[in-house]
Amino acid sequence: MNAATDNITAQNFFTKLLQLKFLKPLVFILCLLPMALLVQGAINGTLGVNPVETLIREMGDWAIYFLLMTLSITPLRALLNLSWLIKCRRMLGLFSFFYACLHFVSFIWFEHFFDLTEIVKDIIKRPFITIGFVCLLMLSALAVTSTDNMIRRLKKRWKTLHQLVYPIALLALLHYFMMIKADYQHPLILLVWLVALFGYRYYVFLKKVKKTTHD
Ligand code: HEM
Repeated sequence: MNAATDNITAQNFFTKLLQLKFLKPLVFILCLLPMALLVQGAINGTLGVNPVETLIREMGDWAIYFLLMTLSITPLRALLNLSWLIKCRRMLGLFSFFYACLHFVSFIWFEHFFDLTEIVKDIIKRPFITIGFVCLLMLSALAVTSTDNMIRRLKKRWKTLHQLVYPIALLALLHYFMMIKADYQHPLILLVWLVALFGYRYYVFLKKVKKTTHD
């Protein structure tokens, strides 16, 4: 066997390994890691001078990372021919919702100590919080309708509803841009990521249009 066949065999072996049942549990454990590290940091007191701020911000970051990772599955699957990736898409989307919920819970707990009047006031008064809240409500609608049963029940409407994930990602980024006063580097990187995803969608759309006009 030469190096090339060795390489292909190794690749096949790795793909088969990933396709096996432990792909989902493995991804599940990896998705929980950010939370585990944050909890460990909180216990060890290594979250910096403002641990509450770090906690809220990190949860927000992970909510948006998982959202963008979810949206990246389809292009990655098509471009790299990795069909098994689709098995993880729903889980990644649900983890975005999970981290967004933790982000919200840390906010109402550590910033408002569950004072409902103060929470509502804050949501109404601060536009970036209003946008975050709308974003969370929209994410909740996607999470609730993500089951197989809902996919069957909603039929075509399911796809339309889940297209909302793009506006949600845009709103989440807007929420991020609105809260910062300086150093836009991090949200800008995320914006480039999102624009690339929109670019891919547009490319697929153009290809479809071209195909239907040729048929
Ligand atoms: C009710 C819903 C939400 C509330 C109340 C909320 C609130 C907040 C607050 C208070 C901050 C930090 C502000 C600061 O430290 O000065 C923040 C930052 C952030 N939030 Fe939210 N948020 C919500 C929803 C979301 C959602 C749904 C996402 C993403 C999907 C998100 C992503 C982010 C990001 C990425 C940051 C910036 C993190 C960083 O500085 O690195 N938020 N949010």
